[in-house]
Amino acid sequence: MNKRKILVTSALPYANGSIHLGHLVEYIQTDIWVRFQKMCGHTTYYVCADDTHGTPIMLRAEKEGITPETLIARVHDEHLEDFTGFHIQFDNYYSTHSPETRHFSEDIYSKLKAAGLIAVRGIEQLYDPVKNMFLPDRFVKGECPKCGAKDQYGDSCEACGAAYAPTELKNPYSSVSGAKPVKKSSEHYFFSLSDTRCADFLRRWTREDEHLQPEAANKMREWLGETGENKLSDWDISRDAPYFGFEIPGAPGKYFYVWLDAPIGYMGSFKNLCVREHIDFDTFWQPQSDAELYHFIGKDILYFHALFWPAMLKNAGYRTPTKIFAHGFLTVNGEKMSKSRGTFITAESYLKQGLNPEWLRYYYAAKLNSTLEDIDLNLEDFVARVNSDLVGKFINIASRCAGFISKRFDGRLADGEQYRQLQTVVNERFAGWRPDQIEKAFEEREFAAAVRHIMKLTDEANETIQELAPWEVAKDSDRSEELQKICSLGIQLFYLLSRYLKPILPKTVQQIERFLNCEPLTWPELKEEQPVSDLLLPAGHAINVYHHLMTRIDAKQIEALTVANTQSLTPAGQTSSPARHAEKQQHAVTPIADAISIDDFSKIDLRVAKIINAEHVQGAEKLLKLTLDIGSEQRTVFAGIKLAYDPEQLKGRHTVMVANLAPRQMKFGLSEGMVLAAGGGNPGELFILSPDTGAQPGMRVK
Ligand code: MSP
Ligand code: ZN
Repeated sequence: MNKRKILVTSALPYANGSIHLGHLVEYIQTDIWVRFQKMCGHTTYYVCADDTHGTPIMLRAEKEGITPETLIARVHDEHLEDFTGFHIQFDNYYSTHSPETRHFSEDIYSKLKAAGLIAVRGIEQLYDPVKNMFLPDRFVKGECPKCGAKDQYGDSCEACGAAYAPTELKNPYSSVSGAKPVKKSSEHYFFSLSDTRCADFLRRWTREDEHLQPEAANKMREWLGETGENKLSDWDISRDAPYFGFEIPGAPGKYFYVWLDAPIGYMGSFKNLCVREHIDFDTFWQPQSDAELYHFIGKDILYFHALFWPAMLKNAGYRTPTKIFAHGFLTVNGEKMSKSRGTFITAESYLKQGLNPEWLRYYYAAKLNSTLEDIDLNLEDFVARVNSDLVGKFINIASRCAGFISKRFDGRLADGEQYRQLQTVVNERFAGWRPDQIEKAFEEREFAAAVRHIMKLTDEANETIQELAPWEVAKDSDRSEELQKICSLGIQLFYLLSRYLKPILPKTVQQIERFLNCEPLTWPELKEEQPVSDLLLPAGHAINVYHHLMTRIDAKQIEALTVANTQSLTPAGQTSSPARHAEKQQHAVTPIADAISIDDFSKIDLRVAKIINAEHVQGAEKLLKLTLDIGSEQRTVFAGIKLAYDPEQLKGRHTVMVANLAPRQMKFGLSEGMVLAAGGGNPGELFILSPDTGAQPGMRVK
């Protein structure tokens, strides 16, 4: 494989808010892609930073009685902790309030100025006469000039959707001081985007070389208009003091607008990394660079990244991005995230509830593709999907096979002739396990397709194990070799799947690497003439003892999460503590029942039962139809475990049933007993009991 040089960024989150599950769509998407590139052996750097400048940050610091520097230092640590908690692995997480970003901002500005692309013009804006500052649109409120709705922002009306200038609002007031704003003019600096050098370049750039996704390119075409028709206006890049940002060289009291230095923060963060790790900055940023530059962003900030940014870079003598990857917005349960519904979920609260970050990584991966479509986090589906795919299917392979390898074969996988047979089986039966298609899907950011493919393979592995039934073979001491071969096959397939899932589940796969006693997994390189068996662990490889790798999601945890994120609408001071409420819910216990005698207990005839068949019942929401073998006879039982188990998972398993429970006529048929399961009260949260290996159908449980 030829090794590429790749620089990747995610958008820089604002330093005045917490990271929430919406942000994480982007950082998880980027991280998966970066980890994949790194696994492939490409030289890849992933940089990001906090976006620290602007009026909101200045005002918030003032409100808290601290300097903006103190505020952004605190938020930087919080953000980084959240990202680290979700296994987002930046090569550098920096700040735009840095000497490097200042340097490149001044550098780019002065080059644009030298090229004659900076213009100065006086403009009139709303000014807060009490606070003595110009008001950004969002800080002016008043009545909508179209529909009259009260308390609307200065740029658009939430009631009727109208867009307007803040000067058009009726009865405007400053949301900073409450004062009535006055109109005041001052000099502003503009980047001359309407200059043909910018407009013509952008018209070409947005069409060429798939710099943009088709949908994004279309939007840009609308904004740019056709040649000759100049729709682009010059871009106002200065703000007057007081402002938290970089002062413009040679223009006292004028600051760079936050969106000018924000993307330059990508360069600043990378430069900071370069100095620390002796990387050559220019290799990545010179105009003829053969390195690749990718920006992952949300669709809301396309304009800045697809127009302003490339035009700035081009005209200041730097390379332009290879591609801009925009993604859609997150909805929760089909709606916009909402504080009152508890679906505006912060990264911190998710982690605090003890939820596994890889559950979310997996779920997002299963939903993400390369388009700008929004993605939905359906909380019920989240629980079901993670439990069934990750725990029920993927982890299940290892947990079914590893015990035998440790207990019966001293941790050794099949060797010699057995290994050769195993290779043959893999090449014949699992020929479709080559990495090519999954690789392509990851490369193209079609993560949902990659996950679908990997899960198809996981099903194949489970079906094979089901069919070869090592738990049956284990009963016969003459079939020990066969047992080793079957379980080795299971472990080998698990090993292959782990590689494919590693970009998504870095932490679990790290544990798997320890369990399988192997080198850190890289992306497999398999030439056309090479068979799949070339990817396996070597003959006679020794693995370590298996420890449980991942737990199921308990639906209660999700409930507690939304409770913890619900902002009650009661007045300040009387808010019920959502966090405490959540804690109570989680620790609710059912009291132990009244005492019974041993005679009472022995009235229940509990038997080991083998599930010989399990199927869905048409029209039943919660039931599965089980056929149980209890040695002397077969029983049909309708069990309310459909939300917790996939029937395929159950076939062949042993469990415990109440064999002398009076039969009950149900809508779907006669139920002749009951299987035992532990449960916490939620429909999907059920765990059927299993006897230890060796127990035979019909044995009495006493
Ligand atoms: N500071 C700017 C970006 C500057 S980049 C030079 C910004 N910050 S942000 O904190 O509002 O958003 C950071 C990223 O998260 C953006 O790409 C944004 O689109 C993304 N998301 C924020 N909320 C989101 C959702 N609800 N859903 C998906 N992505 C979202 O914009
Ligand atoms: Zn309106």
